[in-house]
Amino acid sequence: MQKMPLPLFRGGSTLVLNILLADPTGFCFGVKRAILKLENELSDHGEVYSIGSPIHNPQEVSRLETMGLQVVENVFDIPRGARVFIRAHGESPEVLEKIHMRAEAVIDGTCPFVKTAQEKARKLSDEGYYVLIIGNPDHPEVKGIRGFIRGRSSVVYDVEDIPDVFPDNRIGLVCQTTIRFETLKSVAAEVSHRSRELKLYNTICNATFERQKAIRNLALAVDGIIVIGGRNSSNTSRLYQIARQESLATVWIEHASELDLQWLAGKSSIGIAAGASTPEWLIEELKHKLKKKGS
Ligand code: F3S
Repeated sequence: MQKMPLPLFRGGSTLVLNILLADPTGFCFGVKRAILKLENELSDHGEVYSIGSPIHNPQEVSRLETMGLQVVENVFDIPRGARVFIRAHGESPEVLEKIHMRAEAVIDGTCPFVKTAQEKARKLSDEGYYVLIIGNPDHPEVKGIRGFIRGRSSVVYDVEDIPDVFPDNRIGLVCQTTIRFETLKSVAAEVSHRSRELKLYNTICNATFERQKAIRNLALAVDGIIVIGGRNSSNTSRLYQIARQESLATVWIEHASELDLQWLAGKSSIGIAAGASTPEWLIEELKHKLKKKGS
């Protein structure tokens, strides 16, 4: 948890004593890396295409659009000869091949943790395992990972989705990078009862878990938490739910302008937490608003 150097401000009769920032919070390693690559490309070339939003944050997408980002629905919307950005979630080999056929340049923002999950999935299928992916079947990362599997596979969200009988006795397991470790443990335990051989790669990345742990710690030290991040961001939504589960006064905003300063009334200590897709500049704007209120 990081203490911010803005210890005092007055809001009407309210005296806010402390503002704390969850640590870690905001952009994860993979998103930071991908957005930096995209920004550099936009600065150098002015127009870059992305299939789907490069990040679940509308303010950040708008900022990138002013630099020349073009968000399209699918690969066929990309004009021939364009420059194309691959999101941190990655893409399947089939989609990648189509992109390479149309694009002049491909900027690969796939997170290295996602790449590992893709490689392990392929390895398992090449070794003849029936591959089981633990994750959300509709998530682009999971669709991408599944595309790397050359043999048979299925996706389960949780224990109750595990089929009673597998078409093969040798099962290989990989997971979406953002699932909970408890889910991996319980699925692996259940699958081991239903198979002769189980080979497992733990492909979870801890960034999401660390942000969740940070907000739980923060909740112990403050009277209220401001969660900042896109309403389309599932990891931001999860942070908001956790803060509320801690029975804490919690507000979820996308932008500092949405914060009603009346919400601060009666609180002596405030926490700020941001989703893994919330850029630093949005957090800075919020801090600035709070500082200004205090001046
Ligand atoms: Fe990568 Fe983990 Fe972020 S997989 S994109 S560092 S949540």
